[in-house]
Amino acid sequence: MSAAATLQALRTEEGRRNPYPHYAALHAEGPVIPLTGSYAAVVHGYDAASRVLRDPDFRVLDAEKLSRAMPAWHEHPSLIVLMNSMMFINGEQHTRLRRLITREFTARRVTSLADTVVRQVDHLLDRIAEIGADGAEIDFMREFAYPLPSNVIGELLGVPAEDRPWFQPHVAAIGAVLDAGGEGKFPAADKAAAELSAYFADLVRLRRQDPRDDLVTVLSAAGADDDPLTHEELLSALVLVFNAGFETTTHLLGNGLEVLLRRPEAARRLREQPELAASYVEEFLRLEAPAQLTTRWSAVDTEVDGVPVPAGATVLVLLGAANRDPARFADPDEFRPERPDNAHLTFSAGVHFCPGALLTTAEAEIAFPRLMSRFPGLALAGEPAYRPQLTLRGHTHLPVTVG
Ligand code: HEM
Repeated sequence: MSAAATLQALRTEEGRRNPYPHYAALHAEGPVIPLTGSYAAVVHGYDAASRVLRDPDFRVLDAEKLSRAMPAWHEHPSLIVLMNSMMFINGEQHTRLRRLITREFTARRVTSLADTVVRQVDHLLDRIAEIGADGAEIDFMREFAYPLPSNVIGELLGVPAEDRPWFQPHVAAIGAVLDAGGEGKFPAADKAAAELSAYFADLVRLRRQDPRDDLVTVLSAAGADDDPLTHEELLSALVLVFNAGFETTTHLLGNGLEVLLRRPEAARRLREQPELAASYVEEFLRLEAPAQLTTRWSAVDTEVDGVPVPAGATVLVLLGAANRDPARFADPDEFRPERPDNAHLTFSAGVHFCPGALLTTAEAEIAFPRLMSRFPGLALAGEPAYRPQLTLRGHTHLPVTVG
């Protein structure tokens, strides 16, 4: 099968459900394959992907690039919110924004959230024990994988618990315009952007009057230095953190649990040796990355592994395939938490490396051992249902019984 046909197969429902045989077919052709159409090349080899992500000539989608494809993008408040965030900005402006925001995103803040995570996990497990007591089927996504990260990010930002059910679909509506076929989603996304903007303006005002130990407070106080975040940048940062940190973590929890439920021996080991949680979580991330791909566009005429990439062209970077490159990881399709040097690309690499990596792994390292020891009889109760996407790959439904 040609690379173009393999990519076509990846876009089918079956390909999104199980992209791995297609990744293996790409690896058999080399680390980078030239394409025609929307992408100049697909980059799936580990070293090649790592190089592209670290090379400043390869840029994330930004306002300059978007203007070429969609000159009227400024008419959409949702796109303005997204494009003002560090994920869609390159160069010095990215460095500035990332510094202002991530200096508040410290190990201390993550550590101080640990007690909250333990409390939230135990609260959700109590509820699962109650509703699953007589062998009733439970949807792990609805009862655990969605509420846990939503509450943890809500806590980190300082969005009051009672506002989170409202907040979450609004943020998701904005992000949805970036999905394939997202054009029809602009009316809902633009309305959500306007409403969130008003919501955060109020929250920022409240926190300036009555400061707390949360991200809304510290980021709004960033106005006090000589290099302040503008109101638009602040709003975009808050929306980005919620959007980038919520559903990705949800799918780490769902994907990781399915790995365990299909490997009872590995589940037993984790139950007996909870100290293995960190290496299990890294291996869940490598094997079943919640975000399987990203893109970069080249500012100059260049090449990747001998494949030419003209200035202005975009390349598709398959993070999930790089994680299964047999030249980098022995037996890449096997779950082996004891692997040495498990430096997967699930959190990307280079200047856009995920600043939430510490928080999300801390959350999963707390959640999995508690879940496994609380429910030794945890088992799949039927076939899971999957999201029809590779950008964010995970379950819509993961039915379990707690024994
Ligand atoms: C399993 C969970 C997560 C995964 C798989 C993940 C994945 C990623 C990836 C792949 C990128 C870079 C995209 C690129 O290079 O094109 C990224 C960036 C980012 N992530 Fe995460 N993320 C996760 C959790 C989080 C959390 C919990 C937060 C916040 C609390 C967060 C905040 C961000 C932000 C702000 C960026 C933009 C960084 C920049 O552009 O400089 N992420 N994430």
